[in-house]
Amino acid sequence: MISDIKEAALRDDVPIIQDGGLLFLLDLIRKNGYREILELGTAVAYSAINMALIDEGIRVDTIEKNDRMYEQALINIREQGLSDRITVYHMPIEEFKTDKMYDLIFVDAAKAQYGKYLEQFIGNLKEDGKMVFDNMIFHGLIYEADQIESRNLRNLVKKILLFRENMQKDERFDIMLFDNIGDGILLLSRRKDET
Ligand SMILES: C[S@@+](CC[C@H](N)C(=O)[O-])C[C@H]1O[C@@H](n2cnc3c(N)ncnc32)[C@H](O)[C@@H]1O
Repeated sequence: MISDIKEAALRDDVPIIQDGGLLFLLDLIRKNGYREILELGTAVAYSAINMALIDEGIRVDTIEKNDRMYEQALINIREQGLSDRITVYHMPIEEFKTDKMYDLIFVDAAKAQYGKYLEQFIGNLKEDGKMVFDNMIFHGLIYEADQIESRNLRNLVKKILLFRENMQKDERFDIMLFDNIGDGILLLSRRKDET
């Protein structure tokens, strides 16, 4: 059962999407009838399985570099009978290339790389598609960035803050930030020409 996957992930400290963020994502897919989904960061396929279970017409491509996560993701997907609709690419996201166009790109991997992932995959987003970025408040740490003692963590949080700032200024996109949903969600779409 999907609740067993969640329970095991929480027990083993596998980072998975929070309930609020997941509900937001599933609602977005349902309302817009999205069918082709790309996910960056599979972990044990908890979010991928949840997305695929919405409708039999949904296909999810998802990328995971960690060996242990990848193996467990395959087991979980097989147990849910979803091997024909979820494909896990076992590789670094940075090396993944495709011509395929997606309705939705869900970004949930290395937080410091979100700007790079955006540029890498924006060409694979259908015209009316959406990108969703998770962990935009990073456990609330964005509100106390200067007080964080660990330099690595402080730098990571500052990168998230910079990404948020850049997205608010970027005239190519319309964005909405939902800091009160899950761990903070950024929803992005291409700005339509006003002419
Ligand atoms: C937050 S977890 C994904 C959780 C999953 N989306 C869910 O909600 O069930 C992030 C995953 O991204 C993977 N990851 C991080 N950087 C990556 C990269 N550069 N290439 C591939 N996978 C990466 C990590 O190994 C980790 O399993």
